[in-house]
Amino acid sequence: MIQLSKRSAALCLIPRNIATLLLCLGPMLPALGQQPLKTLLVGIDHRTVTSLNGDWHYLVDQAPGRALYTGSGELNDRSYALNEHPNIVGKHNEEYDFATAPTIKVPGDWNTQVPQLFNYEGVLWYQRDFDAYPKPGTRTFLHIGAANYRSHVWVNQKRVCDHEGGFTQFDCEVTSVLHAGSNFVVIAVDATRLVDGIPSVGYDWFNYGGLTRDVSLVTVPAIFIDDYDVHLAHKAQFEPGNTELTGYVHVLDAPAGTSVTIDIPEAGAKTIAKTDADGNAAFTVKAAKLTLWSPETPKLYKVNLASGDDRLSDDIGFREIRVDGTRILLNGKAIFLQGVNVHAEAPIRGGRVNTDLDVAMLFSYLKDLNANFARLAHYPHDERMERAADRNGIMIWSEIPNWQHISFDKPEVYAKDVTMLREMIRRDRNKASVILWSVSNETPNNPIRTKFLTDLANEARKLDPTRPITSAVLGPKPNGNERVVNDPLCDALDVIGQNEYIGWYELTPEDADKIQWIFPQKPVVMSEFGAEAKFGNHGAINQRWTEEQQVDVFKHQLVMLNQIPQLRGITPWVLMDFRSTTRNIPKLQDGFNRKGLVSEAGEKKLAFVYFKKIYEERSIGKAE
Ligand code: GCU
Repeated sequence: MIQLSKRSAALCLIPRNIATLLLCLGPMLPALGQQPLKTLLVGIDHRTVTSLNGDWHYLVDQAPGRALYTGSGELNDRSYALNEHPNIVGKHNEEYDFATAPTIKVPGDWNTQVPQLFNYEGVLWYQRDFDAYPKPGTRTFLHIGAANYRSHVWVNQKRVCDHEGGFTQFDCEVTSVLHAGSNFVVIAVDATRLVDGIPSVGYDWFNYGGLTRDVSLVTVPAIFIDDYDVHLAHKAQFEPGNTELTGYVHVLDAPAGTSVTIDIPEAGAKTIAKTDADGNAAFTVKAAKLTLWSPETPKLYKVNLASGDDRLSDDIGFREIRVDGTRILLNGKAIFLQGVNVHAEAPIRGGRVNTDLDVAMLFSYLKDLNANFARLAHYPHDERMERAADRNGIMIWSEIPNWQHISFDKPEVYAKDVTMLREMIRRDRNKASVILWSVSNETPNNPIRTKFLTDLANEARKLDPTRPITSAVLGPKPNGNERVVNDPLCDALDVIGQNEYIGWYELTPEDADKIQWIFPQKPVVMSEFGAEAKFGNHGAINQRWTEEQQVDVFKHQLVMLNQIPQLRGITPWVLMDFRSTTRNIPKLQDGFNRKGLVSEAGEKKLAFVYFKKIYEERSIGKAE
C-alpha cells in the first residue's frame, strides 16, 4: 500500500514533473508495473528472526506444463509453486518432486554452487518446509535480503508477493496463509536480463542469480514499528555542540495518537512522540551528551524504540554531512575521500557476498589500504557491508544500478527506479557511514535521461534531505588537453562523480599529466580510473597487463588529479578483480575484469601497495 504524505497529496493537485505525476499515480502504479513498496521492515538484523537459511530443494524451470510463465508471459497457475507430489493414487501423476530434488544453499547464488548452472540466467525454483506456530495478535513476514533478479513467492500454495530488483530486500506478509505446524515456501527466482530492467541487459559484472542474501521469518505484534529515521538535526550551518536528534518512527497500521518511545540511554536522550494519521511519530530530542560519528571516532549508540507491544533496538551513529561550495563537510570539517570501488564479490570463494566472513575480508583490505571511503558499486550491497562500515569508520557511496543504458523513456522503468531508490534509502538511512546516494553510473547524456535522473535525484532528496546526491558521469569529449565537464546531469547533483580511463582505454599513461579538467563549482570525486593487470604478471611499465604498468597508469593519473582544485575524493576502479562475462582474453582475463588492486584470490598487487602508501601519507587531494 503506498501512502501519500499530506505534502505529496498537495503536490498531486499540480503535477509538475514525471516524479510528481508518478507519485500521484502511486496507488494506480502497479498497473504500470511499479511494485508497490513491500512492507520493508527496517532494522531486521536487530530483530529476533527465524532463519530459513540452509538447504533448499531446487528445480530448473524447464517443464513447459509446470513452468513459471505461460506462453503469454502470465504466471502459470499449475506451476511448481503448488509443490505437488508424484504417485498420489487418484491424482494426476505429477512428474516432479521437491522433497527428493537436489538441494542448494540459501543464501547463495546458484552459479557458484552448481557447475551446471554456472552460466544459467533463467528461472530456478526453490522450495523448503518450515515449522511455524503463529500466535494470535501477531503478524509474520517472510524476509528476503535479495533475490536476483525477479522473484515470485508462494507459501502453502498461496502467492504472497513478487519483487523486481536483484539487490534490495523485501518482506512478504504471510500471516493469513500460515498454519500451526509444517508449512512450505516456494520461490521462483528469474535471473533473465530485461531491456526494461535496472540494470538493463548489458553490464560489466556477473549475473549471479538466486536467493543471494539471508531469508528469514519475522514475527511482530499486530501493530509494529516498520520504519524509522533517527539522525542529528541539520541546522542552516553546522553548529559545534549541537546535540539535537530528530526524525520519525513509523508504526504500521497504528491509530493516530499511538505513543512511541525513543530512548538513547548513553546519550541521555529520551522522548515520547505520538503517531499522526499516517502512523508517523515525528520527534526531536536534545541529547545530554553526544560523540559524533566519524572515521576517527565511529561511535554508535544503542537506540531503543518502543510502541505498544513492539520493541526494537538499533545501533546508530550521529553525524552531519553537507556540501559547502566545492567542499564536503563532515561534522563541519572539510574532508577528502580516499577510497576505492567495491563490487559485492566474495574474496577467494567467489560468488555474491553474504556472510560475516566475506565482509570481514573485504574490510580487512579496506583498512589495510588506509581507505576512509568506499563506493559500493553499482548496486546496494548486503546490509552487513554498511553495518561494518558504521563500525569501522569507512564512509560509503551507495548506488542503485542505473548502469549505462537504461530504458529512460519508459514511465514504468522510472516507477521501478523510484521503488528501488526507496528500498535502498529505507534500509540504510540510519547508517552513519552512508554519506552519498548515487542514482546512476555512466548514462548516455541526452535530454530524456537527464530529465529522468534529475527527477530521481529530487526524489532521493525528498526521501532523505540529510545526504548529498551524486552520480558517476562519463565524458566529455576531449578538447585538446582540456576536458570541460558540462553534462547537464551535474546540475542535479550535489557531488559530481567522474569516470575516466586515461592511460588504459584512451591515450597513454603519460598523456594524463597534461590533461586539464574543468568542472562545475561543486565537489568532485574521481569515481573510476585504472588499468588491468594480472597478479604475478611482471614486466616493463609500458607492457600492458603487468602490475608495473598498472601502477604507472595510476602514477600519471594522480599527477592529473592533483591539478583539479575541487577534487574531494578518489575511488580507483576497483578493489578486487571480479567476474564479468565481457572479459574474455584467455590467460589474462579468463572471465575476470582485472582492474583490481587485489586478485580474486586475495593477492595484493603492486597497485595496492602504491595506494596504501599514498593514503597513509594522505598525499593525494585537498579537503579544501
Ligand atoms: C566502467 C563501469 C564499470 C566497469 C569499468 C571497466 O566505467 O562503470 O562498471 O567495470 O568501467 O570498464 O572496467
